[in-house]
Amino acid sequence: MRHEGRTAVITGAAAGIGRTYALRLAGEGAAVAVLDRADGTSVVKEILDAGGRATAVQADLTDPASVAAAQEEIAEQFGAADILVNNAGIYPNQPFESITFEQWRAVFTLNVDALFHTAKVFVPGMRERGWGRIVNMTSNSVALVIPGFTHYVASKMAAIGLTRGLATELADAGITVNAIAPSLVRTATTEAGPAELFEAVPQMQAIRRVQVPEDLTGMLSFLVSDDAAFITGQTMYVDGGLVRS
Ligand SMILES: NC(=O)c1ccc[n+]([C@@H]2O[C@H](COP(=O)([O-])OP(=O)(O)OC[C@H]3O[C@@H](n4cnc5c(N)ncnc54)[C@H](O)[C@@H]3O)[C@@H](O)[C@H]2O)c1
Repeated sequence: MRHEGRTAVITGAAAGIGRTYALRLAGEGAAVAVLDRADGTSVVKEILDAGGRATAVQADLTDPASVAAAQEEIAEQFGAADILVNNAGIYPNQPFESITFEQWRAVFTLNVDALFHTAKVFVPGMRERGWGRIVNMTSNSVALVIPGFTHYVASKMAAIGLTRGLATELADAGITVNAIAPSLVRTATTEAGPAELFEAVPQMQAIRRVQVPEDLTGMLSFLVSDDAAFITGQTMYVDGGLVRS
């Protein structure tokens, strides 16, 4: 029960990697807010059935007013957040020359701007309590640009920049900020994308199997624990050894 007494907010937790993160942190004692535009009640039910604590909060992370309302709702139920996991993201596959400015902006609005909005509303409570953990999801594609992901890679590099900046500015408040960079992970969304990636990407990894969300949960649990108190501003590649830095 490593996270007993902590409140964790996980964005994009109604599905995919975020859902798996929610189950892991709740299983280790955290009260989890499943913050998603989609309905997260089935994830909450899984957690409650297993004896954990969770609530589903629906919000559009690209809208600052919606994020602020979500923070108030979570605070009413569970108090201030100790842990913020910025997991929601989109990764459309499009050749650069066909990307419109609106499509470019849509990627940045969720993958970058939403991280600004959530930090703005959840950091004050962490600072007040002198303890906090923020984890931002980036991608190993920042080190391995695959065609069709220029907007995505640019946005995930920005998430790394934000991670380093916040780590620098929030350390004095006992808040650490790190990023996790997976390889290609099997989720319903990636399964709907280009099938050839599931052949090509594992071949570039040292561990040549397709990554699953459960491969990421150990790193998340560690980074948001007291054990990781002296680790901040880092990007952790949890990618089967594709990036060997
Ligand atoms: N799956 C991969 O291969 C992979 C690889 C590297 C990095 N990542 C990153 O991991 C994160 C999760 O990926 P995933 O595959 O689990 O995604 P996913 O598509 O399975 O889930 C994303 C969740 O985000 C929610 N969401 C989308 N827009 C939202 C909005 N405006 N407001 C609130 N919620 C919104 C969706 O409803 C969904 O539940 C993303 O940031 C992604 O870029 C994924």
